[in-house]
Amino acid sequence: MDPIKNPFSPGAGAPPPELVGRDGVLKQARVLLGRVKAKRAEKSMLLTGLRGVGKTVLLNEIERLAIATGYRAISVEAHEDKPLTALLIPHLRKVLFDLDRLAGAGDKVRRGLRVLGSFVGALKMTVDDLTFGLDIDPESGSADSGDLELDLPNLFLAIGDAAEERNAAVALFIDEIQYFKPKELGALIMAMHKIQQRQLPVVLVGAGLPILPALAGESKSYAERLFSFPVVGALSKDDAGKALQEPARAVGVTFEKAALTEVYRLTRGYPYFLQEWGYQVWNHAERSPIPLRIVKKATATVIVRLDENFFRVRYDRLTPGERTFLRAMAELGPGSQRSGDIADTLHVKLTSIGPVRAQLIRKGMIYSPAYGDMAFTVPIFDEFMKRTIPKFKL
Ligand SMILES: Nc1ncnc2c1ncn2[C@@H]1O[C@H](COP(=O)(O)OP(=O)(O)OP(=O)(O)O)[C@@H](O)[C@H]1O
Ligand SMILES: [Mg+2]
Repeated sequence: MDPIKNPFSPGAGAPPPELVGRDGVLKQARVLLGRVKAKRAEKSMLLTGLRGVGKTVLLNEIERLAIATGYRAISVEAHEDKPLTALLIPHLRKVLFDLDRLAGAGDKVRRGLRVLGSFVGALKMTVDDLTFGLDIDPESGSADSGDLELDLPNLFLAIGDAAEERNAAVALFIDEIQYFKPKELGALIMAMHKIQQRQLPVVLVGAGLPILPALAGESKSYAERLFSFPVVGALSKDDAGKALQEPARAVGVTFEKAALTEVYRLTRGYPYFLQEWGYQVWNHAERSPIPLRIVKKATATVIVRLDENFFRVRYDRLTPGERTFLRAMAELGPGSQRSGDIADTLHVKLTSIGPVRAQLIRKGMIYSPAYGDMAFTVPIFDEFMKRTIPKFKL
């Protein structure tokens, strides 16, 4: 098939040709956006899911919905080593400047800028050219205690007041939210708590790994009442078929049923893998309908590509001890494993695996789906580990 016409889009955050199986979350997002804009209380949303399930794509789609319904949108991605303040401040400043340009009486926008000024002042750091661009006197005593858990809520309230005064609404999108430090996550949760109590038109939509609900809950026990945590998962067999068939059909190509079944078996319906298989199968195919034989032929190429890219970037960040731990998990099979079984496989005491396990959780490689259980955050990582280290030896 003509590679130029290849409709599939493997890649981080790359919009799929067909956003399949996400109607429920999108509907929930529409309700949330509509209610917050109308100043009705609603839980903000934190999407959670494994690597490559389509969280970023969904977050971007919800951002489009927000903008289409008149929200001012802020979109950031958390990093392991970038503070929340440095990420957010330039965007919050821009939103305040935008609000300032909207018609409307009152001084809440100006106040918002003053509070932002004092917030930045208390950080004792310069965030790009922030202080330079902000030619407004800070409001001392507001959001400048130096304690993020006090200051961020006050800053958010000032911004919420400003938005409300101008009949506007602000939507904050944060990807990879699990990377925030506990103190930062706590401050963010408290800020949204205050916003909800006052029913101000500010909404938070975040995305992160499945560890997120636990992190949020540890940080503030009321987080579960404040947020909903829709799970973004693998697609069902039908939806996985649609994710391949529909985009192909749009350019006059179809897959045979057996070909779709085989792709589903290999990918388990994980969106990123579906795109990779779709992409390679397309390039290997000579004519439509695409038969099972072509899927089998393309699979070797897909596995090499996945091993060299998707899996490899994660593997390369691991220490030898961490690799052995993950290989032991893989030895036990797919799915989640008891920590005790992992320790047994490693021939060590349960207590001694704690540090490596904590390190792997911090790196976002594994998480705990239930007490005492451990699972990979990357789908089908167990098979990759077995390919990379064929024989498990201690
Ligand atoms: N609903 C869907 N149907 C088909 N393909 C999808 C769907 N959602 C996402 N994809 C595809 O899956 C891939 C991964 O999407 P995305 O980057 O959003 O995942 P992610 O969950 O953010 O991953 P990560 O945790 O690594 O950031 C992309 O190639 C995208 O096109
Ligand atoms: Mg992502």
